Amino acid sequence: MFSKILRPLTDLVRHILSKPDERGDPTSDLFRLKIRDKVRQIIKNNRGLLLDIGCGEGLLFETLPAKGNMLRCVGIDTEHEMLETASDQFRKMQPHSLNLLKAHAQNLPFLNKSIDIAICINTFYNFHTKGDVIAALEEMERVCKRDGFIVFDVRNKINPLVYLSFKFVWLYDTQVTLNAYSLKELTTALTSSGMVIKETIPIGFPITMLAPIILVKAGYQ
Ligand SMILES: C[S@@+](CC[C@H](N)C(=O)[O-])C[C@H]1O[C@@H](n2cnc3c(N)ncnc32)[C@H](O)[C@@H]1O
Repeated sequence: MFSKILRPLTDLVRHILSKPDERGDPTSDLFRLKIRDKVRQIIKNNRGLLLDIGCGEGLLFETLPAKGNMLRCVGIDTEHEMLETASDQFRKMQPHSLNLLKAHAQNLPFLNKSIDIAICINTFYNFHTKGDVIAALEEMERVCKRDGFIVFDVRNKINPLVYLSFKFVWLYDTQVTLNAYSLKELTTALTSSGMVIKETIPIGFPITMLAPIILVKAGYQ
């Protein structure tokens, strides 16, 4: 009942806060945009094979330079529709090397240590359980080369706005799953199996521990 009133309102806020040319895309909004921009900065001078897990409509790939780009890109997603949209978009743009595959974050169809950069952004918080997130992180770690790195974001449950908006999501949206985590509970899984946190970048508030979103770059020492 609440969601009938509040859902259109939250959709409107998201619409207003989205970049004009991304409005209407299911994965557009201001925070997601900021995260993609930060990730582009992190990867801009790298080369090799980049994997984007839960790539959606492929918005991360949009502004990677087509010419002179040293990255080959693979996007995976579980939704055929998302991959079709991404594929249509990129056919028109004739971009850098990009392949799209239907696959699960928890069972990546890649060999051990075969990927230079494994990214999963704007996706973990929609997974149903923490176990799904940990399984995806373990897969990212498995496929990442020793001199490569992984990047993911944490919707930070220590931030009160995130905590409340995720806890009461049933009031404004009955269809979506939203799960927040602390930085520690996700990064412990990585550090216990050999990776170290190289960088944490707060998004939406300058103090990392309190930021609504924390972008994490991790790799081997
Ligand atoms: C909110 S979108 C984020 C898209 C993109 N990463 C971005 O930043 O715009 C989340 C995407 O993850 C995909 N997804 C959900 N569960 C997945 C899973 N277990 N493995 C791979 N992709 C998944 C969804 O289909 C959706 O396209």
